Amino acid sequence: MTDLTPPHTWTTRPSAHDLADILRRALHDGALDSLSATVFHDLGLMRAKVQTLQHLFPEGTLHAVAIKANPLIEVLRELVALGAGLEAASMEEVHCALAAGCPPERIVYNSPAKRTDDLADALRLGLHINADTLDELARIDALLGSMETTSTIALRVNPLVGSGTIAITSVANRASKFGVSLEVEDDIMDAYRRYPWLTGLHLHVGSQGCRVEMLVEAARIILDLRKRVHKTVGRNQITTLNMGGGLPWAYRDEATPPSPGHYVELLRRENPELFADDLTLITEFGRSVQAGCGWAASRVEYVKEDRDPRMAVIHLGADFMLRTAYHPDDWPHRLSVLTPEGKVKTGDLVPQTIVGPLCFSGDIIARSRPLPRIEPSDWLLLHDVGAYTLGMWSRHCSRGLPLVLGYNEAVSETGFRTLRRRETPEDVAAFWSA
Ligand SMILES: Cc1ncc(COP(=O)(O)O)c(C=O)c1O
Repeated sequence: MTDLTPPHTWTTRPSAHDLADILRRALHDGALDSLSATVFHDLGLMRAKVQTLQHLFPEGTLHAVAIKANPLIEVLRELVALGAGLEAASMEEVHCALAAGCPPERIVYNSPAKRTDDLADALRLGLHINADTLDELARIDALLGSMETTSTIALRVNPLVGSGTIAITSVANRASKFGVSLEVEDDIMDAYRRYPWLTGLHLHVGSQGCRVEMLVEAARIILDLRKRVHKTVGRNQITTLNMGGGLPWAYRDEATPPSPGHYVELLRRENPELFADDLTLITEFGRSVQAGCGWAASRVEYVKEDRDPRMAVIHLGADFMLRTAYHPDDWPHRLSVLTPEGKVKTGDLVPQTIVGPLCFSGDIIARSRPLPRIEPSDWLLLHDVGAYTLGMWSRHCSRGLPLVLGYNEAVSETGFRTLRRRETPEDVAAFWSA
């Protein structure tokens, strides 16, 4: 059995054969949940990605990986050990970051609904705070009247570059609920004039579906705003620029993910001031770091031969792949079929539909997908599920979270690490209890 994972780069997309090798190793070790489903996370690939970012961006850039993409504490702990920071979208995520050992000065706190007591906690801890509104700045100012902080505080500005191809993950259009619109520039100038502690600018264009060129244009717009702020206030006040996340991942068979190398090359060409010594950069990548590191293997429980196309019932569905179930055209995942022993199935492709375990007729993760003939007890592999899957886990029908295993290049010697144990029915009953 070959069980070495290939040398990793940012664009590595392990093949069905690569993953089958890992699955057979896990079967051999008795490491996985052989009756239902197991999620795997390639920690070696994740490390290679973080190191790529660290290599491409200037030294001193804080790469705060978005917790919402994958909130497993053991995954966060690995990121922190690599020197990355963490982006928290709620006070609960701040607590996850702290539980993973992240120093407060490497935590970025975003949320459109921060309460005054949340802001006080964030200031006390010294987090990087991205204020979403001018009212939030006024609350921070009131708090700073009676406390000291080491926090850097930024204002999120909507650069209004428009929507990408997926409406629900585009946040730099006029309808966006986030940030202060560039259209109220006078108010933005007032805020920087009034609050000398406001030393940062934050932008985030959106996630999947936004072209790299949009991200580059948004940075250009925000850098121009910075220049105007400096002219208005008469000093170089903005010393931190948080560029958000948003590099897409390639979920489809034929696609290639855009590389951060290309992104940084465009940024250097169009926005050279970003790399000047008077600016500290923060990034908040989530999906592009995590999506390709994760994959899942589910046993096929039943095959419904009397349906057209035939239908395979597996143990992960809309609870795990919420976006795929509701917007299948935007979130199509590669799927592979393995024999019960973990060999990649080949042969004629027949259209088959893959459904999950929930009592909900929309619980479909692929419709009429051409795949080798699936039989009960086969394994179905779901590729690229490392981001926005477990983090969006749904309690519909109260299925327990699956077992999550981590591994790295040395899996043949080190084996697998439990990143999260499987939830038992008792755990779920406790979750719903008073
Ligand atoms: C403020 C902010 N930063 C970063 C991210 C992560 O974006 P992505 O996963 O697309 O890189 C998000 C995603 O929702 C976000 O809202």
